Amino acid sequence: MTRIVAPSVLALDFSDMKTQLKRVEVAGAKWLHYDVMDGVFVPNISFGPDIMKQVDHVSDLFMDVHLMIVDPQKYFDAFIDKGADAITFHVECFADATEGIAAVKELKKRGVKAGITLRPGTDLDTIVPYLKHVDLVLVMSVEPGFGGQSFMHEIVDRIKAIAEYRSVNGYEYLISVDGGINDQTGLKCRQAGADVLVAGSYVFGDDIEKAVASLL
Ligand code: DX5
Ligand code: ZN
Repeated sequence: MTRIVAPSVLALDFSDMKTQLKRVEVAGAKWLHYDVMDGVFVPNISFGPDIMKQVDHVSDLFMDVHLMIVDPQKYFDAFIDKGADAITFHVECFADATEGIAAVKELKKRGVKAGITLRPGTDLDTIVPYLKHVDLVLVMSVEPGFGGQSFMHEIVDRIKAIAEYRSVNGYEYLISVDGGINDQTGLKCRQAGADVLVAGSYVFGDDIEKAVASLL
């Protein structure tokens, strides 16, 4: 099983960016999670491709971009050109799976990992047609839009179902979980089959090294 920790840039102290990014790397994080919010798909605004480029410049970590924006396909090139390694979009942004799968294929053609995600309230069946095409499935364990929310325990069954589907079908996508992750909720997710744990406020809290180590 893969065990990756992806600290979320949303909770980073930008006045101390270089140091904090180095600390998560030395502590064993392999990915950085970059949350893009447009104030339309979610009721909050974060940052875009130019800031991501600056973050990417001072970090060697794999750049895992989570697009919480309407019309995500319009911005694929901008993020790829500025250093994205994986791009994950919300399936709710596409009218149907045929259109969404075309977007997945476009990402793969451009040489980045292609990920999908869904809101906690979106029916799991919505993502089934995508599963044979994607590299990454991001399970939201909070309503997207803000860091620092509490983990929704009911989504653990969703992780198990996606992991089960993967082994039954011989697929190889990674399963990532995002929202309210700490040592305890992270352990539950690992036990359910999660490969990647995204964590913002927990990692960039009192003790970065201890927090990353507890999620590995
Ligand atoms: C929420 C974002 C998360 C957020 C997680 O919409 O997608 O990636 O940064 O923050 P924490 O770990 O604080 O819940
Ligand atoms: Zn995220």
